[in-house]
Amino acid sequence: MQLNHARILLTGATGGLGQALAGELSATGAALLLSGRNAERLAEIKVAPGTDYTTLQADLARGEGIAAAATAARHFRVNMLINNAGIGCFGLLEQQGWPPVEKVLAINLESPIRLTQALLPWLRAQPEAAIVNIGSTFGSIPFAGFAAYSATKAGLRAFSQALRRELADSLIRVVHVAPRAIDTALNAPAVNALNRYLKSHSDSPEAVAAHIVATLRNDRSESHIGFPERLFAWLNGFAPGLIDRGLAGKLAAIKQHASSQ
Ligand SMILES: NC(=O)c1ccc[n+]([C@@H]2O[C@H](COP(=O)([O-])OP(=O)(O)OC[C@H]3O[C@@H](n4cnc5c(N)ncnc54)[C@H](OP(=O)(O)O)[C@@H]3O)[C@@H](O)[C@H]2O)c1
Repeated sequence: MQLNHARILLTGATGGLGQALAGELSATGAALLLSGRNAERLAEIKVAPGTDYTTLQADLARGEGIAAAATAARHFRVNMLINNAGIGCFGLLEQQGWPPVEKVLAINLESPIRLTQALLPWLRAQPEAAIVNIGSTFGSIPFAGFAAYSATKAGLRAFSQALRRELADSLIRVVHVAPRAIDTALNAPAVNALNRYLKSHSDSPEAVAAHIVATLRNDRSESHIGFPERLFAWLNGFAPGLIDRGLAGKLAAIKQHASSQ
């Protein structure tokens, strides 16, 4: 799809990556329906001059929020849904209560599936349409200290691939983009400290937004951002034991950082 013909519902538009994506997408001429929960941050999102855009305050962890977003999307005549809203959930599973785990499952996995399902009949009626899911490297390299988060992103990756196969005879494209760490507020201070200790690279939201727009422009369906993360994701697919052994050497540091928060 040519992005200057796109009318996009972008969830998580108030976040670090969302704001950068709103700027990058608006520069292509796309029209934007920007969704988030925080009204002040929604009002402050910067888009290119002349952009056709509007904002929507909705809590996507709630059924009413999903319904409101789907209604607004039909009203705005969207032909692209970008499921970007998400939260982190760093910690050792046995030290976490159920509420943070339930929350990350609801926001990172359940809400994109619900919103997609609510919008599919509308998107199917468009001459061309796309569903774009923002996953994570941890969806392909499930990481110690991120068990529930990794499960949501692996689930989102599987959802993207299954839906793409289910819609293969339709005009709806399904795209999955998996960034590595990004410099945003999603990462708790302990995660940033762990990334520094492990020398894990963290990208700017602007660089990731540019990569996502390039993926859409080039009509690619799958994109993993960063090297060696791309290599390790591929390796984990057929030799997970190698990744088990590599991560075992980092476990003490991961435990120490997880317990420090
Ligand atoms: N940061 C990273 O290291 C990293 C790495 C790989 C992938 N990702 C993925 O990139 C995406 C964007 O993350 P980010 O780094 O930009 O995080 P962020 O800065 O913390 O932004 C998160 C966004 O999600 C929204 N959100 C959270 N809970 C919501 C809810 N219940 N209903 C509606 N919206 C909700 C927030 O809205 P409000 O602020 O308005 O509540 C905010 O717009 C996520 O899917 C994340 O998993 C991030």
